[in-house]
Amino acid sequence: MKLLVINGPNINMLGIREKNIYGDGSFEDLQHYILEVCKKHNVECELFQSNHEGEIVDKIQEAYSNVDAILINPAAYTHTSVAILDALSAVCIPCAEVHLSDIYIREEFRHHSYVSLVAKKTFCGMGFKGYKKAIEFLVDYCYNESIK
Ligand code: DQA
Repeated sequence: MKLLVINGPNINMLGIREKNIYGDGSFEDLQHYILEVCKKHNVECELFQSNHEGEIVDKIQEAYSNVDAILINPAAYTHTSVAILDALSAVCIPCAEVHLSDIYIREEFRHHSYVSLVAKKTFCGMGFKGYKKAIEFLVDYCYNESIK
């Protein structure tokens, strides 16, 4: 199974940005963690991070016919980007949404997620563990789809 993991703006600042919200782990730590989980589940993983909406849209489009599943933490674009929602809808690749923090108990403007409209499942408020849960969910989801 091929998985594309997309992290949006400022996720590369983990370990520096608001540690009380996002924890002490660095972005490098997160990348290692994701790769370890993927290795355990025999998942081929591509990691992608961008601070630019259009680059994220391009990456999702490139995934068409090339990957089996997408895990995305769209970060601030979660709450604003119809373009990322449209790209995910266009490629029809099963997708799981992850947020390190619990967006539903934070400021009201974070309560709405465009990506949730297309995501098969959303994991939030679990820190790094949310990525593990999302990878395991997508592995199960793809397996069940393939034996249907
Ligand atoms: C985030 C939550 C977003 O509201 C925020 O803009 C982020 C990170 C999270 O992982 O908790 O940058 O997606």
